[in-house]
Amino acid sequence: IPIHVLNGPNLNLLGRREPGIYGTATLADIERDLRAQAATLGVALTFRQTNHEGELVGFVQEAGLAGAGVLINAAAYTHTSVALRDAISGSGALAIEIHLSNVHAREAFRHHSFLAPVCAGVICGFGPMSYSLGLDALARLLAARSG
Ligand code: DQA
Repeated sequence: IPIHVLNGPNLNLLGRREPGIYGTATLADIERDLRAQAATLGVALTFRQTNHEGELVGFVQEAGLAGAGVLINAAAYTHTSVALRDAISGSGALAIEIHLSNVHAREAFRHHSFLAPVCAGVICGFGPMSYSLGLDALARLLAARSG
């Protein structure tokens, strides 16, 4: 089962970026733990990060067209990007939206997601565990879909 974990802008700064909100784990720490989890789940993991909206659109298209599941933390683009939403719906990607922080407990501009309506579900507020829960859920959805 192929799954692409896609990370948007500023997530390369995890570990030193507002640790009171995002914690002290780095993106490399999260990737390492997910790779271990993927091995036990029998999932082929691709893990990517970009600060560029268009590049993230390309990553989503690539995953969707290849039939891979998408676990996406689009970071700030979650709240701004129609292009990213169209990439999910247009490529037919089975996607789950995730966030480290509980976006609903934060500023009002973080309460709206352009992506959530075209995702299977949303997981937020659990720190790095949001990635882990998301990977588990996506693997189950993909396994159910392929019978
Ligand atoms: C985030 C939440 C977003 O609102 C914010 O712009 C981020 C990170 C999270 O993982 O909590 O960059 O996606």
